[in-house]
Amino acid sequence: MLHRPRRNRKTQVVRNLVQENTLSVNDFIFPLFLIDGKNKKSEVKSMPGIFRFSEDLLLKEIESCMKLGLKTFALFPNIEEKLKDKTASERWNKKGIYLKAIREIKKKFPEAILMTDVAMDPYSSDGHDGIVKNGEIVNDPTLLVLAKMALAQAEAGADIVGPSDMMDGRVGFIRESLDEAGFTDVSIMAYTAKYASAFYGPFRDALDSAPKFGDKKTYQMNPANSKEALLEAELDFSEGADFLMVKPALSYLDVIKLLNDSFSLPIAAYNVSGEYAMVKAAAQKGWIDGDRTRDEILLSIKRAGAKVILTYFAKEWAQKNSPKS
Ligand code: PBG
Repeated sequence: MLHRPRRNRKTQVVRNLVQENTLSVNDFIFPLFLIDGKNKKSEVKSMPGIFRFSEDLLLKEIESCMKLGLKTFALFPNIEEKLKDKTASERWNKKGIYLKAIREIKKKFPEAILMTDVAMDPYSSDGHDGIVKNGEIVNDPTLLVLAKMALAQAEAGADIVGPSDMMDGRVGFIRESLDEAGFTDVSIMAYTAKYASAFYGPFRDALDSAPKFGDKKTYQMNPANSKEALLEAELDFSEGADFLMVKPALSYLDVIKLLNDSFSLPIAAYNVSGEYAMVKAAAQKGWIDGDRTRDEILLSIKRAGAKVILTYFAKEWAQKNSPKS
């Protein structure tokens, strides 16, 4: 035999030498959930180890992440039912919990990178990502709402805005609105290929944001399709996105690779709530090794071509892999 691939696996040092992909805290964005109140911390039932924090405790959480070298965060708000309405108007309330928290985070941690969520669902009495008219999610009127949200977030200090709504044309519309207001340095991470997925269940628990009727299939993508992801990516690219995201990650590794092979922009992948919950649940039962499964999943997402990984495992990974520990 001329080739014996096992020679390159013979010791850990050799394996390290030929290892093609590695993970680093620089790859991760850690999603955080914000709730109203003071000194509040409540665990998301379906996401063991993930908490909803009031602003004061959220700042402490961010501080402990920063010490681990984890410096990029995506912030999502849990909004009280009584503040929700058809147009998500609480979204640009400067005194509301979300914009206030953005300002405080950026004041306390100017070097942290904060990605904000541009979507109506946590604020919408319909639980949808767009304005609902006669039972339909209407595209173009929603663009105005999204642009207004993105502007309010940029004013509050957002570094990256993340439209997670899947309305057509929203990246270009938001880019133009930001530029006109002078926010040319605010980046857009487009949720480019966001699939209508069952893996979002625990996230909707965390935010109480599940749709009040129907599903999201007229705007989120059909899990059976990958060519359509190319079309979405071409649009987001031409409309000025800075990152193209695939979501969820694990069932869509082929889509991550497709976009990475086809576009020069950095590809992001969202390792979503249901993917996290599955690992935690099986590990709690002793059915899998949670630490090894986590690392294997994260590495597979990187190997597929994602440079940036949004993951609820980020802090845990940083704790287990920080140089000090
Ligand atoms: C909605 C939104 C969702 C997630 C992020 N933004 C869920 C949905 O589309 O209903 C899911 C993230 C996760 O599951 O971790 N704007």
